[in-house]
Amino acid sequence: MMGDVAEILVPSAEIQEKVREMGERITRDYAGERLLLVGVLRGAVVVMGDLMRNIDLPCEIDFMDISSYGSGTSSSGVVRILKDLEEDISGRHVLVVEDIIDTGLTLSYLLRSLRARKPASLEICALLSKPSRRRVELDVKYLGFEVPDEFVVGYGLDYAGAYRNLPDICVLKEEIFAGS
Ligand code: PRP
Ligand code: MN
Ligand code: MG
Repeated sequence: MMGDVAEILVPSAEIQEKVREMGERITRDYAGERLLLVGVLRGAVVVMGDLMRNIDLPCEIDFMDISSYGSGTSSSGVVRILKDLEEDISGRHVLVVEDIIDTGLTLSYLLRSLRARKPASLEICALLSKPSRRRVELDVKYLGFEVPDEFVVGYGLDYAGAYRNLPDICVLKEEIFAGS
């Protein structure tokens, strides 16, 4: 699998360091509160697992499955709720956890849906952002890294469902995309 990788963009140790910093900031910012982390399936599961263990607060987790990509490499703009939250978020402090923000279409749709449920607060934590691809303005309170407009995989991010289990954020070799 590592043989399909052209370049490591963010090595695992740097990711861990950043996630620890984000967890510490979140711990300070929400001191005295009970937090609900909402992960966006499936990409966010890896950062969710690491982030939650770096937050020293009473904290619960829930997940939503929203998909916009299908199996290609670019956003179709089609957003569907495949699985909704289990929790009622009204009056709750909600922090949405994402692996990457690309066009921003997924999160802007999701935030609109969550905001309508009247949470006490609603913020975004994303490990990665591709600012050059943004189509809608988003206020991201906790951001790990900005990445260039290259198709990245690993640490939860996939290409056609694969590579999510790579520990680093990687760029794949050109030949992997041949014919797609
Ligand atoms: C990816 C990624 C974000 C979203 C970002 O998810 O995990 O959720 O796309 O793209 P956007 O900002 O252009 O909307 P994807 O839809 O591929 O589903 P997945 O998490 O299951 O891989
Ligand atoms: Mn996703
Ligand atoms: Mg995907």
